Amino acid sequence: MANASPARILLASNRGPVSYTVEDDGTLTHRRGGGGLVSGLSAIGNDIESVWVCAALSEGDRVATRRGLTDPSVRMLDIDAGTFARAYNGIANSTLWFVHHLIYNTPTTPVFGASFRREWASYEAYNRAFAEALAQAAAPGATVLVQDYHLSLTPRLLRELRPDLRIGHFSHTPWAPPDYYRLLPDDVARDVLAGILGADRAGFLTRRWASAFADCCEAVLDADVDRAALTVTYQGRTTRLGVHALGADSDFLRERAHRPDVDLRLAALREAVGDRRTVVRVDRTELSKNIVRGLHAYRHLLRTRPEWIDRVVHIAFAYPSRHDLPEYREYTASVLRTAQEINDEFGTATWQPVILHVDDDFPRSLAAYRLADVALVNPIRDGMNLVAKEIPVVSDEGCALVLSREAGAFAELGEDAVAVNPYDVIATAEALHTALTMPRAERAERCKRLAEASTALPPSAWFLEQYAALTADQGQE
Ligand code: G6P
Repeated sequence: MANASPARILLASNRGPVSYTVEDDGTLTHRRGGGGLVSGLSAIGNDIESVWVCAALSEGDRVATRRGLTDPSVRMLDIDAGTFARAYNGIANSTLWFVHHLIYNTPTTPVFGASFRREWASYEAYNRAFAEALAQAAAPGATVLVQDYHLSLTPRLLRELRPDLRIGHFSHTPWAPPDYYRLLPDDVARDVLAGILGADRAGFLTRRWASAFADCCEAVLDADVDRAALTVTYQGRTTRLGVHALGADSDFLRERAHRPDVDLRLAALREAVGDRRTVVRVDRTELSKNIVRGLHAYRHLLRTRPEWIDRVVHIAFAYPSRHDLPEYREYTASVLRTAQEINDEFGTATWQPVILHVDDDFPRSLAAYRLADVALVNPIRDGMNLVAKEIPVVSDEGCALVLSREAGAFAELGEDAVAVNPYDVIATAEALHTALTMPRAERAERCKRLAEASTALPPSAWFLEQYAALTADQGQE
């Protein structure tokens, strides 16, 4: 491990800013990721020593770590593969993710038995590995920003090791309401909340999720909650809750969406669509995204409003996600099956009602954004949903947005969107019709306001706001 000087800002997340690949010839290549944390950290500048602690996820990451080849500002933890799989797949993605998105099929799942306990022990070990690495790398009084549901125990563990640090935690997902949260075994429910309360500040994407967290603290921990001040006091310590609504990066998107690779894909899509209207959706194929019900709604629209036959195309891009989990593989199969059924029912030699792609192609997504007459974003629950914010920024002609009231983005965009209950496919079909028939001028006006609201807090400002809040609290104490 490269030995850098102690860091004054530390970030911790499961997935880091860079990933390494061992090529066929044995050489190691790397790719840098994007996202809010990356641009935020670079906005802070190079004069403050920073370290990003993350897990080695790929074989390439592990090789780079073992050979000491990673950038000294990125510390990848080479966690035992079994421990990692149980923590990441078993607890983070199959338990905490399911709880916060309310997606258990409760007559049969969850079952908290012996194998769950093994997974939970791994999750504790994984969180401890992060806490220890952070404790070791942090300068006295440094600021640490811990990310997401993978690392809910880390703030408390880190505070025990290093009480001098300023610690923030940020949840990028929704938070479950108490009755649902209490599906978790009692000790686990307590440990997750107490883990996050080890932070000085706990950040959320919307007030709704912050309030749900406070409700759980009250119901499960019997903590003192001040709803006006948004604070939770537990075992003599007070944690402030912050709301930071991550927005879209308009400068990046607008520039990137007009490069030649996007133009090329736009031309191909235009050719396929012809002069028909478009309903566009772009998602990672996560169980919360509700792609199948979106397809049912589109089918209902075609069945009940025959004026749309041969007049509209549904462009649906559903990118691969978490294929290690059987539920995700089955879900992708059902997306494919439903799209095929619609194309079989309505398709003709000259009209394909659904254009579905399940492989990742970012420039093609941007091309679809530009072409969108209607954007369909109907998750059953979502921390924010950046696609809802990105499409209005990029769409060429101004799009209408059909938006689930269960997406975090609804808090900011609800007024200018066509709202839907994500479970109600008939109402979603009606919303699609309303959006498709919205007068052009109204659509453009609404889209302009949607784009403004969407870009109110771009990624670097979002990050700096949290950082400033965390360090400002320090000044007050
Ligand atoms: C979703 C969540 C994020 C989370 C991410 C992790 O998109 O909304 O909160 O960080 O999944 O994805 P990964 O591919 O790293 O499991």
